[in-house]
Amino acid sequence: MGTVILGIESSCDDTSAAVVRDRVLLSNVIAGQDVHRKYGGVVPELASRAHQQHIVPVVHQALIEAGISKSEIDAVAFTRGPGLLGSLLVGTSFAKGFSAALGIPMIEVNHLQAHILVHFIHSGGAEAPSPRFPFLCLLVSGGHTQLVVVHDHHRMEIMGKTIDDAAGEAFDKCAKLLGLPYPGGPHLDRLAGEGNMYKFSFSKPRLEGFDYSFSGLKTSFLYFLRDQIKNDEAFIEKNRADLAASLQRTIIEILMNKLVKAAKKSGIRDVALAGGVSANSALRKAIREAADTRGWRVFIPPVTYSTDNAAMIAITGYFKFLKGEFAAEDIAPLARMYF
Ligand code: KG4
Ligand code: ZN
Repeated sequence: MGTVILGIESSCDDTSAAVVRDRVLLSNVIAGQDVHRKYGGVVPELASRAHQQHIVPVVHQALIEAGISKSEIDAVAFTRGPGLLGSLLVGTSFAKGFSAALGIPMIEVNHLQAHILVHFIHSGGAEAPSPRFPFLCLLVSGGHTQLVVVHDHHRMEIMGKTIDDAAGEAFDKCAKLLGLPYPGGPHLDRLAGEGNMYKFSFSKPRLEGFDYSFSGLKTSFLYFLRDQIKNDEAFIEKNRADLAASLQRTIIEILMNKLVKAAKKSGIRDVALAGGVSANSALRKAIREAADTRGWRVFIPPVTYSTDNAAMIAITGYFKFLKGEFAAEDIAPLARMYF
């Protein structure tokens, strides 16, 4: 029989529903929101409206693909935060209605913890091994950049985090300056593949400890482009791929430098990536190379589990279900949430 959990994710601009039976993923349906593209960023009001339109059909589809009827669901897990309040409210309200109608418990999930726990999802086939506790996870998304020591499925400790922009934000904002569509990260990744990553250099932050900073890089990229355009209006057009490759190299050097330091300091050799930016091809390559030279075991999620999805909410819900951690009926979403 097993335990069946329905997961709901609505923290930003993806509406997603997924079903797990124990640790096996049965479905994971994601509806993106194209409406933000023309604004060059997520518009919160439009995001919550789109979640309202998508949530019922997305859940319906997830149940059909899983081959599960509502009566088989043991609990509904939902993203409580962090994220956009209006967007979180749609998922939270849906979970409340669903749990009340079926008489099943609700489980609140921290979106960041969920990004990390994707490493415990089983697909039902031959499985790659999961990391052993404690492991080190570089969590890199559009809103967060953190170095996390994962002690178990519930207990996680932040070693370092960004003091300003997240790595994904740095990718997206610099991609915008290069005239790439939103969200720029994946476009910049593709373009960088055609460029010379050593053509340009940009300054890196000098920050002690394990915290990150990306706002200085974004500003120095902006000023560099401005100066070059003064001499040659077509500078970006002529150098777009080399600029993308050089910028990407710099972001990855910043990320990897602290990750290597954190692994050394903690003595941990199981190292994982999580979050949307872990889809970046150069970051994946860099962590594999570091693993080869440093004797790490490295864990990289499939791209569908890197960016926002409800499979990660469902699996986190499953682990909390085992501990009997259920949410109260009057639970409210949180724009900021820590662990
Ligand atoms: O985890 P995620 O889906 O949403 C948040 O929780 O923020 O991460 C989205 C971020 C965006 O900034 C997007 O540009 C970035 O992940 N991203 C990438 C790539 N794919 C997604 N950044 C660099 N290279 C990629 N291939
Ligand atoms: Zn996310």
